[in-house]
Amino acid sequence: MQNLTVRLEMVFEQVRSAVSGTGDVRVIDVGSDHGYLALRCLEEGVAKKAVCTEIHEGPAKRSQEALDSAGYSDCSEVHVTDGLIGVPLQDNDVIVIAGMGGLNIIDIIGQAIKDNGTEAMKKVTFVLQPQKSNEIVRKYLAETGFVYVDETVCYDRDIFYNCMRVVYKQEMPHFLSAINPHSSDPRFQVPHEVVMKLAECLIDDMEREEQNQSVWWHEY
Ligand SMILES: C[S@@+](CC[C@H](N)C(=O)[O-])C[C@H]1O[C@@H](n2cnc3c(N)ncnc32)[C@H](O)[C@@H]1O
Repeated sequence: MQNLTVRLEMVFEQVRSAVSGTGDVRVIDVGSDHGYLALRCLEEGVAKKAVCTEIHEGPAKRSQEALDSAGYSDCSEVHVTDGLIGVPLQDNDVIVIAGMGGLNIIDIIGQAIKDNGTEAMKKVTFVLQPQKSNEIVRKYLAETGFVYVDETVCYDRDIFYNCMRVVYKQEMPHFLSAINPHSSDPRFQVPHEVVMKLAECLIDDMEREEQNQSVWWHEY
């Protein structure tokens, strides 16, 4: 089974939850780099088909090699493209955009809305893990009409990462999740309970690490 970092393991678990109970799902990993996430999804039977997209040839080749050498050539595709351009969305797709900056994520989603139309967007799920500009991503999602299904946080090599699962409803959400404590906009400030939960997670993680346990990411 393909090993993942704690951060990518968190992303994978969000994909697994998104897929749960839905028949034949296709996972699209935008910016697949090494292809590990797509590979793990196929290995665990979480997805029937995996599509990797990469803006650069080198990582696209790496993804293709990883999938081919594990015997998944027939149920995978790798596209050299910007975001989701040239990959029309299908019902129940789970689209992962992880490990890249928030502004890039916003551009990719915006282009996907233009290319696929709003009705198609309502039938897919996005799993987003921005490396930075979280606050801008949250604001964009809220203003564009996405709603949060779930969000998880992990602590990996001294950094907190978050992963949001969102769906497009084309309406203003009733609730905005938030983690950035420095926002001047009160809608995006961190609720006190979330800060307390993060602190508890961190302490739990340190204790688990001391006991040499391997699973150390949490939902809040
Ligand atoms: C830091 S890696 C993250 C890889 C993996 N998603 C992860 O979370 O570990 C970011 C990857 O996204 C690719 N990338 C950046 N912008 C992209 C875009 N607009 N469309 C497709 N791939 C992109 C980069 O080439 C790089 O391989």
